[in-house]
Amino acid sequence: MATINANFLKLKAGYLFPEIARRVKAYSEANPDLAARIIRCGIGDVTEPLPAAVVDAMHAGVAAMAVRETFMGYGPEQGYEFLRQAIVEHQFAGLGIAADEVFISDGSKCDTGNILDIFGPGNVIAITDPVYPVYVDTNVMAGNTGEANARGAYAGLLYLPCNAANGFVADVPREHADLIYLCFPNNPTGAVATREQLAAWVAYARANDAIILFDAAYEAFIQDPAIPHSIFEIDGARECAIEFRSFSKNGGFTGVRCAYVVIPQTVTGHSGAGGRVPLHQLWSRRHSTKFNGASYPVQRAAAAVFSDAGKAQVAALIAHYMGNAKLLRETCAAVGLPVFGGVNAPYVWVGCPQGVDAWGMFDKMLAEAQVVITPGAGFGAGGEGYFRISAFNSRANVEEVCRRLKALVAHAHPY
Ligand code: MLT
Repeated sequence: MATINANFLKLKAGYLFPEIARRVKAYSEANPDLAARIIRCGIGDVTEPLPAAVVDAMHAGVAAMAVRETFMGYGPEQGYEFLRQAIVEHQFAGLGIAADEVFISDGSKCDTGNILDIFGPGNVIAITDPVYPVYVDTNVMAGNTGEANARGAYAGLLYLPCNAANGFVADVPREHADLIYLCFPNNPTGAVATREQLAAWVAYARANDAIILFDAAYEAFIQDPAIPHSIFEIDGARECAIEFRSFSKNGGFTGVRCAYVVIPQTVTGHSGAGGRVPLHQLWSRRHSTKFNGASYPVQRAAAAVFSDAGKAQVAALIAHYMGNAKLLRETCAAVGLPVFGGVNAPYVWVGCPQGVDAWGMFDKMLAEAQVVITPGAGFGAGGEGYFRISAFNSRANVEEVCRRLKALVAHAHPY
């Protein structure tokens, strides 16, 4: 008889976004006359077409595959040199990152989960609350936690509270941690960390001989020039940090799939025997064994994001989504709800009306306004009392969401 990985049985519920999709489907089936009115602002999935420069490069990549002389079979597992080099030049100029420290993949969700392959058991893992659920669930699956309590918090994880009092940026803890997940601009709260706050985390990591897993999937949305885009802008991070980046939200690649991990040669972990081993070496080995590279046309398309035309087109996409975020922020504030995020990030984080909890707000928005939002509680106990609105949508849909939100709040008493 084949045994299973019993850690999966500790997982509390379905993964958040499929669970939301399930509820929306049930609502649509029960209310077929309202189904066409539904506007989805739940999952952070892009809505606008790919930039023209990306499309042209992908076509050219496919055309090359159609001709014997330029056909490409398996590529390098770590990614084509042309893309790794473009990333270093356009995203990490002056930060001392080399092309061979960049590993191309098919997504940051997979990367942030798969990275656990190179870490051993027994690490103290620090996770913000609320948090992107992938960090928690992949640690549960890997056996790095105990059981969850009634609030959904897993034994064995070090939770770092993020709330209105700390601006949704976790303070460094008194306790020791070995692995720390940070995500800035933050999913789900839209918070950003200042240079000083990131420097405090790097100092903590170095003092604790810990590794920071820095998820920068939303860095392109930063508007404030003082906010760092990369953890490697902080002195000392080359010794203690791994960064995750994606083409999903800037280039609109959620359906195309391309991302990358940056692991400096200087980041090391302990082997059981007491020696230090470069994490770069382990991730390279893992990548070669379990991954055969992102496809050639996709990597060509990703590189086009850094062409002059690509940069201008991506900037226009970001401006579009941030214009949506501004409308959503203004509407929520106008109806008297507490609003966070949405300034340097495509997520607006909103306090629920008094007496309504996060899933209650989800149900209310769906039933009364046919708008799908994400309940804050889906991101951890610390998200209770909040909901997240994604700014990834057409302008017309966002304007309609704003109208419906105003009407919904106007008809409900008291908030
Ligand atoms: C989200 O809505 O939180 C994101 O779409 C999740 C993701 O990028 O995987």
